Amino acid sequence: MTGVRLRSQAWLAGDDEVALEHRVALASAGLAVSRSADRPVIGIANSASDLNPCNLPLSDLAVEVKAGIEEAGGIGAQFGTISLGEDLMKPTAMLYRNLLAIEIEEMVRANPLDGLVVLANCDKSVPGALMGAISANIPTVLVTGGSRPVARFRGRPVGTGTALWRMWDERRAGRLSDADWAAFERCLSCGRGACNTMGTASTMAVLAEVLGLMVPGAASIPSGQKRGLTAARTAGQLAVSAVQAGLRPQSILTADAFANAIIALHAIGGSTNAVIHLAAMAGRAGVPFPLEDISRLGAAVPVLADIEPSGSGLMPDFDAAGGVPALLREVAGHLRTSALTITGRTIGEVIDAAPAATGAIRPASAPLREGGAFGVVRGSLAPDGAVIKTSAATPELLRHRGPAIVFRGYEDMLARIDDPALPVTPQTVLVLAGCGPVGVPGMPEWGMIPIPARLIKAGVTDMVRVTDARMSGTSFGTVVLHAAPESAVGGPLALVRDGDVIALDVPAGTIDLDVRPDELERRRAAWVPPPARHLRGWPALYAAHVLQAPDGCDLDFLRAPTPSHRRFVEPTVGRS
Ligand code: FES
Repeated sequence: MTGVRLRSQAWLAGDDEVALEHRVALASAGLAVSRSADRPVIGIANSASDLNPCNLPLSDLAVEVKAGIEEAGGIGAQFGTISLGEDLMKPTAMLYRNLLAIEIEEMVRANPLDGLVVLANCDKSVPGALMGAISANIPTVLVTGGSRPVARFRGRPVGTGTALWRMWDERRAGRLSDADWAAFERCLSCGRGACNTMGTASTMAVLAEVLGLMVPGAASIPSGQKRGLTAARTAGQLAVSAVQAGLRPQSILTADAFANAIIALHAIGGSTNAVIHLAAMAGRAGVPFPLEDISRLGAAVPVLADIEPSGSGLMPDFDAAGGVPALLREVAGHLRTSALTITGRTIGEVIDAAPAATGAIRPASAPLREGGAFGVVRGSLAPDGAVIKTSAATPELLRHRGPAIVFRGYEDMLARIDDPALPVTPQTVLVLAGCGPVGVPGMPEWGMIPIPARLIKAGVTDMVRVTDARMSGTSFGTVVLHAAPESAVGGPLALVRDGDVIALDVPAGTIDLDVRPDELERRRAAWVPPPARHLRGWPALYAAHVLQAPDGCDLDFLRAPTPSHRRFVEPTVGRS
């Protein structure tokens, strides 16, 4: 490769014993490196694991990525990372998202890498990998593993996540037999890949493509398809060309790129978790990300993806309808089309080559819903803001006043939610406190508080709920999430009591606790912080440094440095 100073040459070029030792290390791994070290070394960060079926398709794709890198004249060097599986990790994979980011950044810092291909799929693995890549700031391409096959129950397709929540409500209401419950379990075990609804994994894959870090059209390819292998090979080739062009994540992830991601998030009716992940990624890139941008930029954006939980289709339908390029073509008038992508083309040029949307991607003239998919509220109950997915909420509940019933933690909620003596009515506002980033720690997806069984049996399907937790991207309901500051650090949720009136007005952007200020001050003075749950290890480090949801729940020491302290990951070489 001519004309490009490769970072890896600091390790590999030269005639001394240190460079020789470094070349021998790579040659021993089967990687062909010469004395001139003029081929870019591309790290292939693979998070496949048997403990994470969503990421298992990645190993097959990694083979293609490596082939693509070599076809383009590079050297592919695979390394493993922590695998963040949403289903098994407790208390939540979110606790480890920042750890994955640290791993990737530090693997780049410590090794002779010129570029990266990160392979991720399940919810937290995409933002975690990208956060690390942004901070490392070497040319990076993301490869995702696609959605898993669609299960069928009673002859009808069922999406992952959303169907489970509905079936669990049926089960709790006594309307689903033991045999049906067992049959439902069997049908859900249908293969590898990410959830096939527009949950967090699919949302983050779509947004990564919109941000310009993927092969155009690749984000929605279902797992196991030949097209996925081809896209992975192209990603390997792109990583090499991005090194040649000097296309680093921080030059692609501009304010315009994040604005485009917010617009796409509305257009797909995506996961609320994406609001946190985008804030974290923007924080790494040094791009301001005020929470109100979510509602401001989305106010005129139509929801076009007819995919669960906002719509009725599943991710293969989104792919068949043209995927991200077709979606972007429909909302092109809202986009900053000059934003650059890893291909070297602008997002506008990608749109120019896009097919017209069909099927599960509605035309802008016939949207699923007008006026965006998310609202942001702020007020005496959430001074630093909270988020609601309006596209998955009951419109009549977006303006609501009602008395609170407060649960102090998940165990308390589980113990009392179905208690026949709970004085709950459809007007009640259910509050779940103590589940924020510090509180658990990790901010689990406990926010979709179940409707009390007594009310389900009476036909109630939705209620206003408020929490400092997150909820799954496959969840639904009138749930105000990520209330900040959280209860565990003394936010107002710590001060709410049963019977206090809560006033929600999503169109006006407010959420207030109707309690006199002097009474609130009296409660605040008597408030005692909860004891730390962890005294050592990663959870203790996390709880000591995690930022609140509007700052993406990143760790305070991992955000972008001020310009005067900016130092990218440059090699420090010599004998180890
Ligand atoms: Fe992994 Fe949904 S559980 S993508």
